Amino acid sequence: MTPLIVALDFPDAPSALALADRLDPQQCRVKVGKELFTRAGPAVVENLQARGFQVFLDLKFHDIPATVAGACRAAAELGVWMLNVHASGGRAMLEAAREAVSVSAAPPLLIAVTVLTSLDAADLEEIGCHSKPAEQVRRLAALTAETGLAGVVCSAQEAGQLRQELPALLRVTPGIRPAGFARDDQRRVLTPAAALAQGADYLVIGRPITAATDPGAVVASIVADMAAASVR
Ligand code: C5P
Repeated sequence: MTPLIVALDFPDAPSALALADRLDPQQCRVKVGKELFTRAGPAVVENLQARGFQVFLDLKFHDIPATVAGACRAAAELGVWMLNVHASGGRAMLEAAREAVSVSAAPPLLIAVTVLTSLDAADLEEIGCHSKPAEQVRRLAALTAETGLAGVVCSAQEAGQLRQELPALLRVTPGIRPAGFARDDQRRVLTPAAALAQGADYLVIGRPITAATDPGAVVASIVADMAAASVR
Protein backbone atom coordinates (compact mmCIF):
# COMPACT_ATOMS: atom_id res chain seq x y z
CA MET A 1 0.00 0.00 0.00
CA THR A 2 1.17 3.54 -0.73
CA PRO A 3 1.34 6.54 1.68
CA LEU A 4 -1.39 8.38 -0.25
CA ILE A 5 -4.72 9.30 1.38
CA VAL A 6 -7.22 11.03 -0.93
CA ALA A 7 -9.40 13.61 0.85
CA LEU A 8 -12.97 13.03 -0.36
CA ASP A 9 -14.16 16.55 0.43
CA PHE A 10 -17.54 16.27 -1.26
CA PRO A 11 -20.94 17.54 -0.08
CA ASP A 12 -22.75 14.25 -0.64
CA ALA A 13 -22.28 10.49 -0.97
CA PRO A 14 -23.00 10.13 -4.72
CA SER A 15 -20.21 12.59 -5.61
CA ALA A 16 -17.76 10.96 -3.19
CA LEU A 17 -18.55 7.45 -4.42
CA ALA A 18 -18.37 8.50 -8.08
CA LEU A 19 -14.85 9.80 -7.46
CA ALA A 20 -13.90 6.67 -5.48
CA ASP A 21 -15.06 4.55 -8.43
CA ARG A 22 -12.35 6.20 -10.51
CA LEU A 23 -9.61 5.29 -8.00
CA ASP A 24 -7.80 2.03 -7.27
CA PRO A 25 -7.96 0.95 -3.60
CA GLN A 26 -4.54 -0.68 -4.07
CA GLN A 27 -3.03 2.75 -4.75
CA CYS A 28 -4.56 4.96 -2.09
CA ARG A 29 -6.70 5.20 0.99
CA VAL A 30 -9.50 7.74 1.38
CA LYS A 31 -10.41 10.36 3.98
CA VAL A 32 -13.99 11.16 5.01
CA GLY A 33 -14.38 14.48 6.78
CA LYS A 34 -17.04 16.39 8.68
CA GLU A 35 -19.15 17.66 5.80
CA LEU A 36 -19.46 14.33 3.98
CA PHE A 37 -20.00 12.37 7.20
CA THR A 38 -22.59 14.81 8.56
CA ARG A 39 -24.50 14.55 5.32
CA ALA A 40 -24.05 10.88 4.44
CA GLY A 41 -23.28 9.17 7.76
CA PRO A 42 -21.75 5.75 8.36
CA ALA A 43 -23.28 4.42 5.13
CA VAL A 44 -20.76 6.29 3.01
CA VAL A 45 -17.90 4.78 5.02
CA GLU A 46 -19.41 1.31 4.58
CA ASN A 47 -19.85 1.89 0.86
CA LEU A 48 -16.23 2.94 0.49
CA GLN A 49 -15.06 -0.07 2.49
CA ALA A 50 -17.22 -2.36 0.34
CA ARG A 51 -15.30 -0.98 -2.67
CA GLY A 52 -12.05 -2.07 -0.99
CA PHE A 53 -10.91 1.28 0.44
CA GLN A 54 -9.41 1.76 3.87
CA VAL A 55 -10.97 4.86 5.43
CA PHE A 56 -9.48 7.64 7.54
CA LEU A 57 -12.45 9.10 9.46
CA ASP A 58 -11.40 12.73 10.00
CA LEU A 59 -13.92 13.93 12.59
CA LYS A 60 -11.42 15.40 15.09
CA PHE A 61 -13.31 14.41 18.24
CA HIS A 62 -12.98 16.84 21.18
CA ASP A 63 -15.24 16.43 24.20
CA ILE A 64 -15.25 14.97 27.72
CA PRO A 65 -13.39 11.64 27.96
CA ALA A 66 -16.46 9.38 28.15
CA THR A 67 -18.08 11.00 25.12
CA VAL A 68 -14.93 10.82 23.02
CA ALA A 69 -14.34 7.22 24.08
CA GLY A 70 -17.86 6.34 22.92
CA ALA A 71 -17.36 8.07 19.58
CA CYS A 72 -14.03 6.31 19.06
CA ARG A 73 -15.59 2.95 19.90
CA ALA A 74 -18.32 3.60 17.34
CA ALA A 75 -15.72 4.51 14.69
CA ALA A 76 -13.70 1.39 15.48
CA GLU A 77 -16.83 -0.76 15.16
CA LEU A 78 -17.45 0.84 11.78
CA GLY A 79 -14.10 -0.66 10.79
CA VAL A 80 -12.24 2.52 9.88
CA TRP A 81 -8.48 2.32 9.36
CA MET A 82 -7.63 5.64 11.02
CA LEU A 83 -9.45 8.23 13.13
CA ASN A 84 -8.51 11.37 15.01
CA VAL A 85 -9.13 13.51 18.05
CA HIS A 86 -7.89 16.93 19.21
CA ALA A 87 -4.84 16.62 21.46
CA SER A 88 -6.01 19.78 23.27
CA GLY A 89 -8.80 17.65 24.77
CA GLY A 90 -6.17 16.71 27.34
CA ARG A 91 -4.54 13.65 28.83
CA ALA A 92 -7.64 11.92 30.24
CA MET A 93 -9.51 12.32 26.97
CA LEU A 94 -6.57 10.98 24.94
CA GLU A 95 -6.17 7.99 27.25
CA ALA A 96 -9.90 7.24 27.13
CA ALA A 97 -9.82 7.40 23.33
CA ARG A 98 -6.81 5.10 23.13
CA GLU A 99 -8.39 2.58 25.47
CA ALA A 100 -11.66 2.62 23.55
CA VAL A 101 -10.00 1.76 20.23
CA SER A 102 -7.51 -0.71 21.70
CA VAL A 103 -10.21 -3.17 22.74
CA SER A 104 -11.66 -3.40 19.25
CA ALA A 105 -11.03 -6.51 17.14
CA ALA A 106 -9.02 -4.57 14.54
CA PRO A 107 -7.91 -1.38 16.30
CA PRO A 108 -7.77 1.63 13.98
CA LEU A 109 -4.78 3.96 14.05
CA LEU A 110 -5.68 6.77 16.46
CA ILE A 111 -3.98 10.08 15.73
CA ALA A 112 -4.28 13.60 17.12
CA VAL A 113 -4.53 17.11 15.74
CA THR A 114 -2.17 19.43 17.62
CA VAL A 115 -2.82 23.07 16.62
CA LEU A 116 -5.10 23.81 13.68
CA THR A 117 -3.02 25.39 10.92
CA SER A 118 -5.71 28.05 10.57
CA LEU A 119 -4.67 29.48 13.97
CA ASP A 120 -1.77 31.91 14.26
CA ALA A 121 -0.05 33.31 17.37
CA ALA A 122 -2.65 36.07 17.80
CA ASP A 123 -5.52 33.55 17.63
CA LEU A 124 -3.85 31.39 20.28
CA GLU A 125 -3.28 34.43 22.49
CA GLU A 126 -6.95 35.36 22.17
CA ILE A 127 -8.07 31.97 23.44
CA GLY A 128 -5.68 32.16 26.37
CA CYS A 129 -2.82 30.11 25.00
CA HIS A 130 0.32 32.16 25.48
CA SER A 131 2.65 29.80 23.64
CA LYS A 132 3.77 30.30 20.06
CA PRO A 133 2.08 27.86 17.63
CA ALA A 134 5.27 25.83 17.09
CA GLU A 135 5.82 25.47 20.83
CA GLN A 136 2.20 24.41 21.35
CA VAL A 137 2.50 21.85 18.52
CA ARG A 138 5.54 20.32 20.25
CA ARG A 139 3.81 20.26 23.63
CA LEU A 140 0.69 18.58 22.27
CA ALA A 141 2.68 16.14 20.13
CA ALA A 142 4.63 15.10 23.23
CA LEU A 143 1.35 14.56 25.11
CA THR A 144 0.06 12.52 22.15
CA ALA A 145 3.13 10.28 22.31
CA GLU A 146 2.99 9.97 26.11
CA THR A 147 -0.64 8.87 26.04
CA GLY A 148 0.15 6.13 23.54
CA LEU A 149 -1.56 7.38 20.40
CA ALA A 150 -0.19 6.34 17.02
CA GLY A 151 0.54 9.70 15.45
CA VAL A 152 -0.26 13.31 14.69
CA VAL A 153 -1.58 15.40 11.83
CA CYS A 154 1.15 17.91 11.02
CA SER A 155 2.48 20.10 8.25
CA ALA A 156 5.44 18.79 6.28
CA GLN A 157 7.39 21.72 7.74
CA GLU A 158 6.87 20.27 11.24
CA ALA A 159 7.45 16.65 10.23
CA GLY A 160 11.25 16.69 10.32
CA GLN A 161 11.50 18.04 13.83
CA LEU A 162 8.76 15.73 15.11
CA ARG A 163 10.55 12.75 13.54
CA GLN A 164 13.69 13.68 15.45
CA GLU A 165 12.03 14.39 18.77
CA LEU A 166 9.22 11.81 18.79
CA PRO A 167 10.25 9.15 16.28
CA ALA A 168 7.52 6.68 17.32
CA LEU A 169 4.70 9.01 16.22
CA LEU A 170 3.35 8.63 12.68
CA ARG A 171 3.16 11.92 10.79
CA VAL A 172 0.10 12.46 8.61
CA THR A 173 0.58 15.49 6.41
CA PRO A 174 -1.79 17.66 4.34
CA GLY A 175 -0.74 20.72 2.31
CA ILE A 176 0.74 18.65 -0.52
CA ARG A 177 0.77 19.64 -4.18
CA PRO A 178 2.37 17.70 -7.03
CA ALA A 179 4.55 19.97 -9.19
CA GLY A 180 2.46 22.10 -11.53
CA PHE A 181 -0.82 22.01 -9.55
CA ALA A 182 -2.66 25.02 -8.09
CA ARG A 183 -2.05 25.73 -4.40
CA ASP A 184 -5.76 26.49 -3.85
CA ASP A 185 -6.11 27.93 -0.33
CA GLN A 186 -3.04 26.14 1.07
CA ARG A 187 -0.43 28.71 2.08
CA ARG A 188 2.70 26.61 2.04
CA VAL A 189 2.84 23.46 -0.01
CA LEU A 190 5.39 20.73 -0.67
CA THR A 191 5.49 18.08 -3.40
CA PRO A 192 4.75 14.48 -2.35
CA ALA A 193 8.40 13.45 -2.68
CA ALA A 194 9.60 16.48 -0.68
CA ALA A 195 7.06 15.83 2.08
CA LEU A 196 8.21 12.20 2.40
CA ALA A 197 11.83 13.39 2.51
CA GLN A 198 10.86 15.80 5.32
CA GLY A 199 9.53 12.89 7.38
CA ALA A 200 5.85 12.51 6.47
CA ASP A 201 4.53 8.92 6.73
CA TYR A 202 1.15 9.52 5.07
CA LEU A 203 0.13 12.28 2.66
CA VAL A 204 -3.39 13.73 2.54
CA ILE A 205 -4.16 15.15 -0.90
CA GLY A 206 -7.57 16.43 -2.00
CA ARG A 207 -8.28 18.86 -4.83
CA PRO A 208 -5.36 18.03 -7.15
CA ILE A 209 -7.01 14.58 -7.41
CA THR A 210 -10.70 15.25 -6.79
CA ALA A 211 -10.87 18.18 -9.24
CA ALA A 212 -8.84 16.45 -11.96
CA THR A 213 -10.31 15.39 -15.29
CA ASP A 214 -8.64 12.01 -14.80
CA PRO A 215 -8.24 11.42 -11.03
CA GLY A 216 -6.87 7.90 -11.52
CA ALA A 217 -4.07 9.20 -13.72
CA VAL A 218 -3.11 11.87 -11.16
CA VAL A 219 -3.00 9.22 -8.42
CA ALA A 220 -0.86 6.94 -10.60
CA SER A 221 1.59 9.75 -11.33
CA ILE A 222 1.83 10.75 -7.64
CA VAL A 223 2.43 7.11 -6.67
CA ALA A 224 5.12 6.76 -9.35
CA ASP A 225 6.85 9.97 -8.18
CA MET A 226 6.82 8.80 -4.57
CA ALA A 227 8.24 5.42 -5.53
CA ALA A 228 10.98 7.04 -7.62
CA ALA A 229 11.86 9.39 -4.75
CA SER A 230 12.04 6.55 -2.22
CA VAL A 231 14.59 4.55 -4.24
CA ARG A 232 16.77 7.57 -4.97
O1 C5P B 1 -7.61 19.77 -1.30
P1 C5P B 1 -6.46 19.71 -0.35
O2 C5P B 1 -5.31 18.82 -0.82
O3 C5P B 1 -5.97 21.08 0.08
O4 C5P B 1 -7.09 18.98 0.92
C1 C5P B 1 -6.37 18.80 2.08
C2 C5P B 1 -7.20 18.08 3.11
O5 C5P B 1 -6.47 18.07 4.34
C3 C5P B 1 -8.55 18.73 3.41
O6 C5P B 1 -9.46 17.68 3.74
C4 C5P B 1 -8.26 19.59 4.61
O7 C5P B 1 -9.37 19.77 5.43
C5 C5P B 1 -7.19 18.75 5.34
N1 C5P B 1 -6.32 19.52 6.21
C6 C5P B 1 -5.53 20.56 5.75
N2 C5P B 1 -4.72 21.25 6.61
C7 C5P B 1 -4.68 20.90 7.90
C8 C5P B 1 -5.46 19.87 8.39
C9 C5P B 1 -6.28 19.18 7.50
O8 C5P B 1 -5.53 20.86 4.57
N3 C5P B 1 -3.86 21.55 8.69
